[in-house]
Amino acid sequence: MKKIISTMLILAAASTMLFANGQKESSSVSTSAKKIGVSMPTKSLQRWNQDGANMKAELEAAGYSVDLQYAGDNDIPTQVNQVENMVTSGCDAIVIAAIDGSSLTSVLKEAQDQNIPIISYDRLIMNSPAVSYYATFDNFGVGVIQGEYLRDAIKLDSKSASDPAYLELVTGAPDDNNCVYFWGGAMSILEPYIKSGAVVIKSGQTTRQQCSTPNWSNTESQKRMENIISANSYGPKGQKLDGVLCSNDSTAQGVTNALKEVGYTSANFPIVTGQDCDITSVKNMIAGTQSMSVFKDTRTLATKVVGMVDALMKGTTPEINDTKTYDNGVKIVPSYLCTPVYASNDNIQKLLIDSGYYTKAQLGL
Ligand code: GAL
Repeated sequence: MKKIISTMLILAAASTMLFANGQKESSSVSTSAKKIGVSMPTKSLQRWNQDGANMKAELEAAGYSVDLQYAGDNDIPTQVNQVENMVTSGCDAIVIAAIDGSSLTSVLKEAQDQNIPIISYDRLIMNSPAVSYYATFDNFGVGVIQGEYLRDAIKLDSKSASDPAYLELVTGAPDDNNCVYFWGGAMSILEPYIKSGAVVIKSGQTTRQQCSTPNWSNTESQKRMENIISANSYGPKGQKLDGVLCSNDSTAQGVTNALKEVGYTSANFPIVTGQDCDITSVKNMIAGTQSMSVFKDTRTLATKVVGMVDALMKGTTPEINDTKTYDNGVKIVPSYLCTPVYASNDNIQKLLIDSGYYTKAQLGL
């Protein structure tokens, strides 16, 4: 009889330990037993391939297994399904760069019910209390860098309603919350000149919605710029165009294509801004058909997110540096903002090549 009781006690102890290790919040399980979901929006834009690869490599180096998924070409239902699968397959944390920041509310409710922490990557997920943290760059600051560049390159302080500068405005996806900040930052610099008449937007398209680009598509931005060019007779021998605000590189590439079609060359190209330092855009900067970009080192952001995941898995609080800015409609999401850096032909050697971000060969140098 004694033998049976002692065997039962041993089995009970073993099952208790097993159950404890099955808990999500247990810190006794090694990181290799922990699985992290990484949901990226698309492969069609260079940077997201780098973001996903960087995070996968760093998370695996930290001992996690990784479920990295790309949602086709910005396909919202695909991303929702992929995140759903990450929840049901038992991911211990999920990192998401949302296509449409407000499309994930219900699937993230399930994640919250299962205590799965959600990290919003670069783009804030809206209207969900399930978002634990947000890691991005200072998006308002990106817009300020672009607006200040246009102000200084075109010398807007020397312009007036009697001698205005002519600009056009292009921003990104209407469902990307980042655009609220890119646009807001740029307009914080440019709006006073538009109001005073020192800057004229001949197309009359001056709201973020009018100037948005579905999915940040270079094809869409090219089409819209072609229409604006023909409707306002912009050209080297036509109506003067001093510059185009573009919120990122893919939209800048579409604008550059449209401007080249009507005969602009590196000798007379309007000022064109960008963001991301995509290889195509850096090549255009070298060729003189894009004026600047904003460098957001995806290695930095990936490292920051891995640090957040690690802290959460170990039951500690991730490092954050902003608890006020990012209201997602339900809560102020604690965030970490990395610093964006102005990039032009003057500093790409140091910024992009010396840092190992790109090789000279990749840039055609
Ligand atoms: C934004 C991001 C930009 C750019 C754009 C296009 O959300 O902040 O850096 O990548 O998407 O994907």
